[in-house]
Amino acid sequence: MSNLTPTNSAIVAAYVDTTPGSAALHREASAVLPSGIVHDSRHTDPYPIYSQRALGARKWDVDGRELVDFYGGHGALILGHCNPTVTEAAQAQLALGTHFGTCHALEIAWAQLIQQMVPCAERVRFTSSGTEATHMAVRLARAFTGRPKIMRFQRHFHGWHDHMAFGVDNHFDGSPTPGVLLEVAAEIVLLQAGDLAAVERAFAQDDGIAAVILEPTGASTGMVPLSAEFLRGLRAVTQNYGAVLIFDEVVTGFRVAPGGAQQLTGVTPDLCTFAKIVAGGLPGGAVAGRKDIIDWLDFDVAADRKREKVRHQGTYNANPVSASAGIAALTLIRDTDVCARATTAAAALRDAFNRVLAEEDVPWAVYGDHSVLHFFTNPNGLAVNPLSWDANAQPVSVFTGDPRKTLLSKLYLALVVAGIDPKGARGAIVSAVHGPEEIAWATDSWRRALRMLKAERELTSAP
Ligand SMILES: Cc1ncc(COP(=O)(O)O)c(C=O)c1O
Repeated sequence: MSNLTPTNSAIVAAYVDTTPGSAALHREASAVLPSGIVHDSRHTDPYPIYSQRALGARKWDVDGRELVDFYGGHGALILGHCNPTVTEAAQAQLALGTHFGTCHALEIAWAQLIQQMVPCAERVRFTSSGTEATHMAVRLARAFTGRPKIMRFQRHFHGWHDHMAFGVDNHFDGSPTPGVLLEVAAEIVLLQAGDLAAVERAFAQDDGIAAVILEPTGASTGMVPLSAEFLRGLRAVTQNYGAVLIFDEVVTGFRVAPGGAQQLTGVTPDLCTFAKIVAGGLPGGAVAGRKDIIDWLDFDVAADRKREKVRHQGTYNANPVSASAGIAALTLIRDTDVCARATTAAAALRDAFNRVLAEEDVPWAVYGDHSVLHFFTNPNGLAVNPLSWDANAQPVSVFTGDPRKTLLSKLYLALVVAGIDPKGARGAIVSAVHGPEEIAWATDSWRRALRMLKAERELTSAP
């Protein structure tokens, strides 16, 4: 049931007015899809928008409205929508075959690119998604170390399989969410990120920890920022205790730098996981890392060592269409300044949004060091100057999330009404094809959305 209605909010009235086609599709969808959606992050009060087509940094909804897109295929589209090289490669492959049921040359070329670009990638195994990649990474770590437990951090997201399905936006005590076994949750050591002393204590007290997995730039791609010093500390502690360090680079991979966060920080993990950009915007994922760990998948090594190998199937692993799109995308990222252009565009957007916040006297801030930006909506009324606020200098407690659901819902709806589709009310994902025109458009949308919120008395002035 929707709490927001056109009668209690002018923002909702404007949203409903401009999106009748989406409303109709959502009514139809609700009779067949739970909540009418296929991914939890699309849950929107009163209903989500439905898109019809997209190109570059823009997309068009079913009502024909043009939006500047700041969700970028959940981060998969650093090259923007329908990059011609990627599209041509995928189309050519569609005509040649989508699944051979045999090996093919594309899987080798795709893996070789990853091996060249990513510091830890001595070997690669493809999966069909990021969830499958993190699932495989923790299984490999357990097989390699012979230990049962996995350390991970509150709010860090690694997909939806049983080991990762709690402690992200709730269940911070490590208890399981519905459908997850208590026994599985018991094998997870869930800590607050950034606290190296707590990590060391956990290892000192428990010799059953196989691996540490984390998002290397911090939870939700840096929404809760994490220092490179913490990564260096983790590298040393995991080495001391013989545990496997896993960077989940599903978003940061091929984005924050061509070789991901590990290249940017100079901290090389034992394993890393990819999805999104790795497959050029098509379904796909990968685990990459040390040969001696990934060798647990190798038949000959298992026979030589007289051990049972780690099993792994997957109908769509390295399917030829994803492989061809992935090769095209990674080649462009390797050979041109794609990552740098996305980071530069994001910095321009961040600065412009913060100038608007200052001009509109709103004590919020937009932050993010790479091409994923975050909106800090300041739920506790801290004294924030948008022009100088430094997210990296804040304590973790500042980033516990904003409980004001109505405000956040209205912020998102107002931004859509004003012409952009951000990452919910949480931030913006920027690509290499967001240019000055899109940044100017979005800056105007941001100001108009803030003014709509002010008109509904949802915003307080700076203290
Ligand atoms: C850091 C991270 N890890 C893993 C995943 C899961 O990837 P997928 O949605 O492909 O299963 C995501 C998805 O957003 C992610 O952001």
